[in-house]
Amino acid sequence: MTHPHLTVVDHPLIQHKLTLMRDKGTSTASFRQLLREISLLLAYEVTRDLPVTMKTIETPLQEMESPVLRGKKLALISILRAGNGLLDGVLELIPAARVGFVGLYRDEATLEPVQYYFKAPKDLGDRAVIAVDPMLATGNSSAAAVDLLKGAGATDIRFLCLLAAPEGVARMKEAHPDVRIVTAALDDRLNEKGYILPGLGDAGDRMFGTK
Ligand code: URA
Repeated sequence: MTHPHLTVVDHPLIQHKLTLMRDKGTSTASFRQLLREISLLLAYEVTRDLPVTMKTIETPLQEMESPVLRGKKLALISILRAGNGLLDGVLELIPAARVGFVGLYRDEATLEPVQYYFKAPKDLGDRAVIAVDPMLATGNSSAAAVDLLKGAGATDIRFLCLLAAPEGVARMKEAHPDVRIVTAALDDRLNEKGYILPGLGDAGDRMFGTK
């Protein structure tokens, strides 16, 4: 599948850690730790094209013009609840970012998203926005989350996930072709319950130990 805005980060460190996360024998504590580590590496990639501006500073030796990020602080939007696992790592790399939350649950019968919470930083339209959710599966909740962000004024949105299914990428491409997706892997397909295959199971359950 071609998607000009899909970046699969195939760095060996990420792939190694992802293999450990996929393994069903990996403990909750290790899963969380690995997710935090991978999210740092993915954050590096998803912020690669952020604009910079030059600032005059003085080193101990002389004055120089040096690059700093341009514009307002970024906004990170966690798509609850699994998004929080990615959020922690990204925040470590970008500690000044503003943070918002979108609460959507998936109706298991229809696989359609149902909203229960939305809180985002002000001035979303002036910020680069990174929405985070480990699993881009059907794409329904991701597309709905991006709808909400656009409704709140966001215009520059990136979507950061750990695993993507082709179905989810296609759905996002159809609904939001302007949103760049960064993922650690593009898996094979969804099963009849909307889980990614081969996947890693339910990301929320695995990171919070709820199953
Ligand atoms: N959400 C998950 O946590 N896992 C999947 O495989 C699909 C959606």
